Amino acid sequence: MLQVEDLGVRLGDGATQRWILRHLHLTAQRGETLVLLGPSGSGKSTLLNLIGGLIAADEGAIRLTVEGKDGTEREVPVHELSEAQRVAYRRRHVGFVFQFFNLVPTLTVGENVLLPLELTGQPHLADAALQRLEDLGIGASRNRFPEQLSGGEQQRAAVARALAHRPPLLLADEPTGNLDAANAERVVACLWEETRKAGAALVLATHSERVANEADTVVALR
Ligand SMILES: Nc1ncnc2c1ncn2[C@@H]1O[C@H](COP(=O)(O)OP(=O)(O)OP(=O)(O)O)[C@@H](O)[C@H]1O
Ligand SMILES: [Mg+2]
Repeated sequence: MLQVEDLGVRLGDGATQRWILRHLHLTAQRGETLVLLGPSGSGKSTLLNLIGGLIAADEGAIRLTVEGKDGTEREVPVHELSEAQRVAYRRRHVGFVFQFFNLVPTLTVGENVLLPLELTGQPHLADAALQRLEDLGIGASRNRFPEQLSGGEQQRAAVARALAHRPPLLLADEPTGNLDAANAERVVACLWEETRKAGAALVLATHSERVANEADTVVALR
């Protein structure tokens, strides 16, 4: 479970510094999809960056329940972690899908999917991770390079990579912003389904009311 309590962050320098987010609360359970909906500049990416440990909050708490190697659950207080601890947290417990540049261009699709397992030393999850490429209809592209795939196929590969290390939390920032309507729909459908199957919590930022309509929870930012 992801719990965000009374979160606040200021960005900018000196006189231009201001609160970007303040007094923000949200909860996402495993297997659930939560959409952050709001106009450009409302702080969607900033919130994902906070939850994912890319930047630190000025106020409030972020807690993620994770499973230890022995299978027992514990709570990670993300707001209390040092920068080095946030790097480890992110690698181990979070999967990311962005609008652009999800895949490493010099690695094949299969190598991209296996990358999180190398970074976290979990080679035993490789077969299941590559099977997800099959499930998403892009198994035949395993030995191709990202540029040889369509945008929608690349995003499905990005979903497979984001879930390879079985993170309890998947963060997606405008994952369909770069796709036509048909591909966008397919990528969203696969995000919804894979999130449920993997038992992860998905937090997805979008401008699209249509995408928001299908989420379990919507948090509106303004
Ligand atoms: N490093 C920073 N320093 C100062 N201000 C920042 C910084 N990063 C973001 N901001 C400001 O914070 C606000 C929220 O930005 P953010 O990127 O989170 O919005 P967003 O909702 O993701 O927008 P979009 O839909 O365009 O992606 C914006 O006004 C932005 O200018
Ligand atoms: Mg953004």
